Amino acid sequence: MPDPASQNRRLYGRSHSHALSARKQALVKGLLPGIGLPEGDFDPRALFPDKKDVWLEIGFGGGEHLAARATKHLDTGFIGIEPYLDGVAKMLTAIEDGGLKNVRLQRGDARETVERMADASLARIFVLFPDPWPKTRHWKRRIVSDAFVAQLARVLAPGGSLRFATDVESYQDWAIERFARSPHLEWTARRAGDWRTPPADHTTTRYEEKRLGDAAPVFYDFVRN
Ligand SMILES: C[S@@+](CC[C@H](N)C(=O)[O-])C[C@H]1O[C@@H](n2cnc3c(N)ncnc32)[C@H](O)[C@@H]1O
Repeated sequence: MPDPASQNRRLYGRSHSHALSARKQALVKGLLPGIGLPEGDFDPRALFPDKKDVWLEIGFGGGEHLAARATKHLDTGFIGIEPYLDGVAKMLTAIEDGGLKNVRLQRGDARETVERMADASLARIFVLFPDPWPKTRHWKRRIVSDAFVAQLARVLAPGGSLRFATDVESYQDWAIERFARSPHLEWTARRAGDWRTPPADHTTTRYEEKRLGDAAPVFYDFVRN
């Protein structure tokens, strides 16, 4: 069921489901407020003054990819945005278990948050298996739009990179059309294998493992010019 609270920017799934465990409830109450994002416009780099770069993951789901990245790259600051409370809570357990000090989380719509970020403030962005909205009449709800691609290009620093993945054929075409229209993003692929083979640095996500799409996953990597 789409979130009825958001008419124009509807979210695909419910933003929360079953009751959280006592531990997760405590983390949402105790840990999340301290690692959230500021209100209003902000510069992600100012949140991580001792880190060399800031990376963003949009729609991190259960957080497997985000947690793996943050654990591996302790010299990098990470921002994860996800509306689904269960996913946020799961990521909070990974942060606590891993003693991760380099992650900030926002529960909500990434489009609203990205708009508030400073220009050229991110080194990497991941949009992995976003909600596919497979029915034609729902395509306009997809997070990849010309407007959002322009925002992503704006917040990426020159030389920064963006990765998009999907296993839904119509979204593969939809997304590449919109990314290709951006004058600021250059697709790094040279041959089909470059997008059909998971990149060497990729961590498989939970959604990806379920193989729910109608096509083999593709991974589109872009560089900000
Ligand atoms: C199909 S799941 C994939 C999750 C994860 N990336 C993975 O691969 O396992 C898509 C995720 O995007 C989230 N999402 C949907 N709309 C969003 C939005 N506007 N901003 C940020 N995340 C969003 C959903 O809550 C969901 O967790």
